[in-house]
Amino acid sequence: PTGVLTDSRNRAFHDLRISVTDRCNFRCVYCMPKEVFGKDFAFMERSEMLSFEEITRLARISIAHGVEKIRLTGGEPLLRKGLEELVGMLAALRTPDGRQIDIALTTNGSALAIKAQALKEAGLRRVTVSLDSLDDATFRTMNDVNFPVARVLQGLDVAHDAGLGPVKINMVVKRGQNDHDVVAMAEHFRGTPFVLRFIEFMDVGMSNGWDMAAVVPSAEIVARISERFPLEPVAPTYNGETSQRWLYADGAGEIGVISSVTQSFCHSCSRARVSTDGKLFTCLFATDGHDLRELMRNGCTDDQLATVMAHIWRDRTDRYSELRSSTTRELRLNGKKRIEMSYIGG
Ligand code: GTP
Ligand code: 5AD
Ligand code: SF4
Ligand code: SF4
Repeated sequence: PTGVLTDSRNRAFHDLRISVTDRCNFRCVYCMPKEVFGKDFAFMERSEMLSFEEITRLARISIAHGVEKIRLTGGEPLLRKGLEELVGMLAALRTPDGRQIDIALTTNGSALAIKAQALKEAGLRRVTVSLDSLDDATFRTMNDVNFPVARVLQGLDVAHDAGLGPVKINMVVKRGQNDHDVVAMAEHFRGTPFVLRFIEFMDVGMSNGWDMAAVVPSAEIVARISERFPLEPVAPTYNGETSQRWLYADGAGEIGVISSVTQSFCHSCSRARVSTDGKLFTCLFATDGHDLRELMRNGCTDDQLATVMAHIWRDRTDRYSELRSSTTRELRLNGKKRIEMSYIGG
């Protein structure tokens, strides 16, 4: 395929996020609440998951369509056996004009201390680590599996030392749960090479009990931090960046806020997501995906696959976060179920 592929709102296909497992060793309250993801929750069988070859094939075709960024997600991607091997396969891909791809990983950090070096050697460029609190008790309550914060902090350092930087840190802020920790997090990571980003709690999936009252608007986050450490807004690093950047006035680095609820960024959304079982979703809030695994396992050619993907992108109309405020959630769902974030990836 040649030429830039754009959707119905003139957005290019630039960013592919691939979920490599629907499992996670954490049970974060806003993502995989224990009541839903309990002992007898049916996770995917091995045979249902895309193989590394199938993932690489989809990545290669996406790159031919203009994708330059690939992010591996989950669940917890480091739970997928041999992930370094997949990273190596993806790192070998090139854009039509011969450039390398930006390959990143979103992880909870629990296994980073062990895996960072091998991932770097395989060709991973950078990691983003989820970290919701520095306070051990709060952190354990939020991951809900009693995981100590010290081990994630250690993973962060190992990832940085391995050259997987700039390491970004994502903090999902939930009012009444960890919002008292916002300024402490800012203080801790100021003046370090880590880039801290605050994420508004979103209504993804069906099970996290989302409520607008639990959302701390980014404007409030910036105001609270600014009171202690004055901040100044700065332009995005690239077009379509999810995060709004703010610099510390005293030169101690930057923070970011991802305001998917209070200030949607659908107008520049260039992301598609592939679930662990090979469905292509053109929005985080989708109810239906396109089954690419079935096509591949039925022997379709690369050309056929490329054509199907191009059609899906061209027809894309998604802008959930822009519409969220204007209609009720129930009305828009129409009796359908939204996919879970652990299935489709952050
Ligand atoms: P960089 O390549 O480092 O800029 O990554 P990114 O900005 O895509 O950020 P990251 O992958 O870390 O995403 C951070 C968080 O932003 C995710 O965990 C989601 O909570 C949210 N997010 C990312 N992409 C989307 C999106 O397309 N829609 C919505 N509503 N939220 C998103
Ligand atoms: N709202 C906002 N962010 C979320 N994540 C998971 N669930 C939610 C939610 N409901 C984020 C996590 C992690 C990434 C995988 O997705 O913080 O950074
Ligand atoms: Fe696991 Fe990440 Fe979801 Fe937490 S947010 S349950 S670490 S996938
Ligand atoms: Fe993109 Fe959908 Fe998120 Fe809007 S809500 S930014 S269209 S993934």
